Amino acid sequence: MDTPASIAPAAIDARYACARRVAREAAERGMAYYRQRDSLSVSHKGDDRQDVVSIADKELELFIRAELARQFPEDGFVGEEGGSADLHARCIWVIDPIDGTACFVNGLHNWCVSIGLMVDGQPLLGAIADPNHDELFHGCAGRGAFVNQTPLRVHGARHVREGLLGVGTTHRPGKEHFLPFISRLLDEGGMFLRNGSGALMTAYVAAGRLIGYYETHLKSWDCLAGMVLVREAGGRCNDFLRGDGLLGGNPYLVACPGVYEQVAAMIGPSLDGD
Ligand code: IPD
Ligand code: CA
Ligand code: CA
Repeated sequence: MDTPASIAPAAIDARYACARRVAREAAERGMAYYRQRDSLSVSHKGDDRQDVVSIADKELELFIRAELARQFPEDGFVGEEGGSADLHARCIWVIDPIDGTACFVNGLHNWCVSIGLMVDGQPLLGAIADPNHDELFHGCAGRGAFVNQTPLRVHGARHVREGLLGVGTTHRPGKEHFLPFISRLLDEGGMFLRNGSGALMTAYVAAGRLIGYYETHLKSWDCLAGMVLVREAGGRCNDFLRGDGLLGGNPYLVACPGVYEQVAAMIGPSLDGD
């Protein structure tokens, strides 16, 4: 993926450095909450008892938003907890303060901070910080993707039986496609994994730990940062941002090139909204 020609490299440098710093600092703040998770008050979003949120999610989003706005007041913002602002801006930050909140509140180490930047409607850079494993996944269009300092490359699998596929679903519309998909995957000799964080599973696709990741309906803050990493590591993404993808979400698939078409065929027309 090329960088937008009219964005000055220095403007990209500044935002890339800021995304990495803020993701790391927010993740450290998240760890302080995580260590005292037994005393956090947890609430549910709407009627869905599985869709949880804690004070940590809200306070981390405020922290991230304030840091980004202080350095780049002209940029727009989409966040899971605080909504969106200035969507007419060329540069729009798309962030999830804690991806994997259900894991976070239950003491499972699969959660992270995800910060992505979209420029002129295209994902440009991303930083995903996992403080439990001391891993910062990051990447920028045309500059590669890394975990800490190590370059990332997607898996070399050419068939689903050659590796693990991340999967996810929620109680939102689209969940009816989940079990038929799992059945087809098993029939082909594949195997699935769900760790509770779409952002981390996307980073693992970029890192070649998973051959791909499919979720029946995901939100942009779960995956925009990771999409940059997957592309920079040589992988493929579906047209996730089509239609109202930025605010409303869409079905989501990222995979290494050797299995992308096979997995897309197993999902069927629902992947691209037909
Ligand atoms: C969730 C996680 C989960 C995915 C859900 C997301 P949250 O985000 O990424 O893996 O299956 O679709 O909503 O609620 O932990 O930020
Ligand atoms: Ca999320
Ligand atoms: Ca979240």
